[in-house]
Amino acid sequence: MTQGSMLRKITDYANRADPYPVYAELRKTPVLHDEEGPYIVSTYWEIHGLLHDPRLSSDARNLGPQAVENLADEEDPALPPAFLRLDPPEHDRLRRLAMTPFGPPHTPRRIHAMRGELSRIIGELVDEFADRDRIDLVDDFSYPFPVTVICRLLGVPREDEPRFHHWAETLAASLDPDPDEDAAERRRVTQQARSELGLYLAELIEERRRAPGDDMLSALAAGHGPEGQMTQAELLSTAALLLVAGHETTVNLITNGMLTLLRNPDVLKQLRERPHLAVPLVEELLRYEPPVQLLPQRTPLADIDIAGVTIPKGASVWLVLASGNRDPQRFMEPDRFDPRRKDNQHLGFGSGIHSCFGAPLARLEAQLALTELARRLDNPRLLADPPEYRRNAVLRGPRHLPVAFDGLRGRDA
Ligand code: HEM
Repeated sequence: MTQGSMLRKITDYANRADPYPVYAELRKTPVLHDEEGPYIVSTYWEIHGLLHDPRLSSDARNLGPQAVENLADEEDPALPPAFLRLDPPEHDRLRRLAMTPFGPPHTPRRIHAMRGELSRIIGELVDEFADRDRIDLVDDFSYPFPVTVICRLLGVPREDEPRFHHWAETLAASLDPDPDEDAAERRRVTQQARSELGLYLAELIEERRRAPGDDMLSALAAGHGPEGQMTQAELLSTAALLLVAGHETTVNLITNGMLTLLRNPDVLKQLRERPHLAVPLVEELLRYEPPVQLLPQRTPLADIDIAGVTIPKGASVWLVLASGNRDPQRFMEPDRFDPRRKDNQHLGFGSGIHSCFGAPLARLEAQLALTELARRLDNPRLLADPPEYRRNAVLRGPRHLPVAFDGLRGRDA
């Protein structure tokens, strides 16, 4: 096999249902310079080290001219890069400002306080399954649940979902480094989705300024915190990031989770009987079937020597989180799904300064959702295995997950 074929293999849709053999092959060369350009990093300690290395930039404007070719984002003064794509000090300032209405130290109870509301939303969605004997878990549950939650958290009207669904999908697709796509056409479509989403959010933020609620957009727009306020452009980029990140990832954690449970019926039974298993189980899912498989847009600010390779300044670096999570140098029996795994510092939420902002929310959503599905669906079974996957190699998950069951247990059963 030529080295160039590794990039192709990662993005090849034929490997989407089971990418793990490709990752095992990748790990034979921890830092591989693919002949199509990027340096692909696949082993746990190398990925972890680079995620904590201040010389590795997340800002696409630092990519060399060759690497920029395949980049979907473009400079847009109305919607500049969000903090996911910025380095310190801008990253740190914007992340702290966004955190003010979301978590500690200023709002430590926000996620805990949403617990009752999350359970109510889950209960209502599952009640809809009464009188049915099959569902598509994605359309009927895994997608509507986190979308409802992120809308509620941000203060975005739930009924606007048909408007922002397309923009969010386009922006999520732009993360997928598909080498066969027409890069110019993709840039055009992504740009259009960004500016339409920006206009939509600008209107909404104006409304929140006039009539503030208890939501994050109102709080960010008011911005009376100790660190001042975001500019209008920063506010729009942050709102767009939270909306997209909050609903294109959790859907896959819940769906991958249910798929894994249905493939391991003994674990499903244990979860039904001992709901507290949900906490380590969700961590194991984030290791074993992570919704974000790889981070394809980093670049060194100076040459970096790692694992016998020099990654030059400006090169494109791909960090394959899902491969690091299966690295036998780090995890015992990495291909075994073990919901009681003790030593489980997985890379499912990344690591270092960009580690997932929404992790506490995503964890709670998945824990409550999987527990309730395990408890209430009587004798659930997969109708297709493997199911049909989405195209995206970065945000990986089933497009549909048809599940049959014999009936629904009551809420208090
Ligand atoms: C299971 C669900 C989720 C997964 C697997 C996930 C995964 C990740 C990963 C791997 C990163 C690191 C990206 C990088 O280093 O470049 C990240 C960052 C981020 N996530 Fe999540 N995420 C999830 C849910 C959420 C939710 C619900 C939100 C919003 C409430 C969110 C907001 C963010 C933000 C804003 C960042 C950027 C952080 C920064 O740059 O400092 N995520 N996420």
